[in-house]
Amino acid sequence: MLERAPSQVKQILVTGGAGFIGSNFIDLVLESNHGVSVVCLDSLSYAGNVVNLESAVKHPNFAFVKADLCDGDGLGSALDPFDFDWVFHFAAETHVDRSIHEPKITVMTNVIGTLNLLEYFRGHWLNEDQCHKRLVHISTDEVYGSIQDGLFSETSRYKPSSPYSASKAGSDHLVTAYFTTFGLPTLTTWCTNNYGPRQHPEKLIPLMTIHALEGKPLPVYGDGLQVRDWLHVHDHAAGVWQTALRGKVGEGYCFSGGLESTVTNLDVVNQILGAVSAHLKVEKSELDGLITHVEDRLGHDRRYALDSRKAAAELGWTPKVPFQSGFAKTVEWYLNNPEWMREVQGTDYKDWLSRNYSQPKGGHQ
Ligand SMILES: NC(=O)c1ccc[n+]([C@@H]2O[C@H](COP(=O)([O-])OP(=O)(O)OC[C@H]3O[C@@H](n4cnc5c(N)ncnc54)[C@H](O)[C@@H]3O)[C@@H](O)[C@H]2O)c1
Repeated sequence: MLERAPSQVKQILVTGGAGFIGSNFIDLVLESNHGVSVVCLDSLSYAGNVVNLESAVKHPNFAFVKADLCDGDGLGSALDPFDFDWVFHFAAETHVDRSIHEPKITVMTNVIGTLNLLEYFRGHWLNEDQCHKRLVHISTDEVYGSIQDGLFSETSRYKPSSPYSASKAGSDHLVTAYFTTFGLPTLTTWCTNNYGPRQHPEKLIPLMTIHALEGKPLPVYGDGLQVRDWLHVHDHAAGVWQTALRGKVGEGYCFSGGLESTVTNLDVVNQILGAVSAHLKVEKSELDGLITHVEDRLGHDRRYALDSRKAAAELGWTPKVPFQSGFAKTVEWYLNNPEWMREVQGTDYKDWLSRNYSQPKGGHQ
């Protein structure tokens, strides 16, 4: 459950709410904040699917608007009927491999799309009483690049490695600049890799689960010893909410899973194989041979790790979902939701898989 928003907060905008994190965030807001109406704006790109909003659309306080952030005029017409108090900007092109194949699409949405959103709210909020207004921009640990030991924090230097992380870095700078230059009440959040239900099946956990279930090779980049500090999507959603509630405008907050960055991608794949073999009632050793080491991703960061102490001290946030149980439930969710899997694996996904797998390398987050 999320904390109650202050009474002035009547309407919020969630961009990218038909995607993985945005849709989980919307469900939590609707469950815990009955007085708040939620508008989801999403272009329904390959990564967004209305099926992710299945329970939200039944809620009387929910509305969906289809619009593309890259279309500044269309964005204005889509948002004008509303009067938003808080904005949560999740929408982005999020797949690193796609950003390597088609950097321009990623840069357009992540940089120009964010600029259009900022411009819209600069025009709408600056003449109003904005004491309680907040625009929370969701960024990623990837903007800091790889770290061998220790942790990155809110003040670490940016050193993005991929077109995806570089475009997120660009959007972060715009968000901060709109605070500094125009006084727009922005805040930024950075988080480690999320896991949980409804993640697009081109990302590591759902991809490996589907492949294991179907007896297909599990493409592991390089030696598979890349380290990620996995954060449950509900913990991340709570952190984003606390940022709007308690964060200081113009500042940013890091959220990590608190695993001390010890879990490798190969560990994750092995845990998935354990869960899938139990589901199929076979020995895990029968599936181990599916692990296929493939050529490493270009510019692949070795390790990500964030320090969440500021979020703990100023927002009262700590991760609540233990990795072992959260991870087991997540894999179980994918195994128990074959219809969702089918629904989100549209033509674009199949085209993408065939393009990515026609080369001797795999594709995941
Ligand atoms: N998933 C993670 O592990 C992770 C980690 C760190 C940060 N983040 C950040 O969190 C945010 C959400 O990530 P996610 O995993 O839910 O992504 P996702 O790819 O599942 O969803 C992105 C959503 O944005 C929408 N979208 C894309 N382009 C758009 C456009 N031009 N206009 C309007 N909508 C558009 C898509 O349709 C989709 O619904 C992103 O900003 C991402 O950078 C994600």
